[in-house]
Amino acid sequence: MKQKNSYILAIESSCDDTSAAVLKNKKVLSNVVATQKIHEEYGGVVPELASRAHQQNIVPVVHQALVKANIDKKDISAIAFTRGPGLMGSLLVGTSFAKSLALGLNVPLIEVNHMQAHILAHFIEDEDEGIGRDEEIGRDEGIGRQQGSKGRKGKNEDSSVPEFPFLALTISGGHTQIVLVKHHFDMEILGETLDDAVGEAFDKSAKIMGLPYPGGPLVDRYAQEGNPDAFPFPKPKVDGLNFSFSGLKTSILYFIQRETAKNPDFVTENLKDICASIQKTIVGILMDKLKKASKQTGITRIAIGGGVSANSSIRMALKQAEKKRGWTTYVPKFEYCTDNAAMIGIVGYLKYQEGLFANQAVTAKARYGIGSH
Ligand code: KG4
Ligand code: ZN
Repeated sequence: MKQKNSYILAIESSCDDTSAAVLKNKKVLSNVVATQKIHEEYGGVVPELASRAHQQNIVPVVHQALVKANIDKKDISAIAFTRGPGLMGSLLVGTSFAKSLALGLNVPLIEVNHMQAHILAHFIEDEDEGIGRDEEIGRDEGIGRQQGSKGRKGKNEDSSVPEFPFLALTISGGHTQIVLVKHHFDMEILGETLDDAVGEAFDKSAKIMGLPYPGGPLVDRYAQEGNPDAFPFPKPKVDGLNFSFSGLKTSILYFIQRETAKNPDFVTENLKDICASIQKTIVGILMDKLKKASKQTGITRIAIGGGVSANSSIRMALKQAEKKRGWTTYVPKFEYCTDNAAMIGIVGYLKYQEGLFANQAVTAKARYGIGSH
């Protein structure tokens, strides 16, 4: 028989954030994220350094999550972990840790698909008075937390959860997909990127301008003070609901090279306008495909998820579409946009209710389709 309340300990280690969270049913009691700063100087995530940092972080991060949630290990009902997709070395750290802990505590083990979790984060039931959420820990190697927000939800960040079926746009550093979500674990990809992910488009554009990794949040920040119509960039022509961002990256590169040849200070003098123009183009590409997907399916409930859903311009465009198109949009709170274990925890809870458990033979999966579980 199931316990009245379930306490899920969740672990996320798919890329460069080590995170642990504790959920009491659908509520987040703690969500600790250690972001690895080490990659900044390399202009991108270095897989070997990432897995080493995960090894250093995982014990203190899990410990912090338990302390902040104010629960004891013996109260844990199940352990959920990210099985994939992601970097193999990074995934292995979380997977091995979760497996050993589940074995040691004799509790069920639950494997979670990271991309499903970005979507199912919308099922977290949050209270403003949630305790210990979004805590920060740092260690000597310069590990800190990526910016999270404790702010209240905006108008289109209603606490209500999307009804099935709904459309989800997953936009992260590794993925760009439009997903038809028929049920928690019944998802179908309607379109996806043929080359770069949208997060990569932001990060690579930022790199061309000499900004550090990850450039997405910086482009967003500068864009807010720039003119989005200053430098028009061409939108790619891609059939159906698929995306392509590599052409845009190339045209930005050539544009910057051309202008810098004329004026070496071009980027510095025009940084805000360039960022605003790039952001407008990217958000335009995403919104065009979302409109198409909504028209094609007749579905007007639209959710976004993944790191890029923290972007102010996409959030605003969705808000406008609520008024203009009659959509109901679901935008995650900032702390559930970029990688975090709370989203792994909500999937853990949903699977726990259905008795969808993994066994000790489960292994990490670097490539892991969203339709499978
Ligand atoms: O979901 P995520 O944390 O990790 C992956 O699973 O990839 O997404 C990280 C991506 C990075 O490319 C980062 O630049 C981008 O999300 N990102 C943003 C913003 N915040 C994070 N891109 C644009 N605007 C932002 N505000
Ligand atoms: Zn992610």
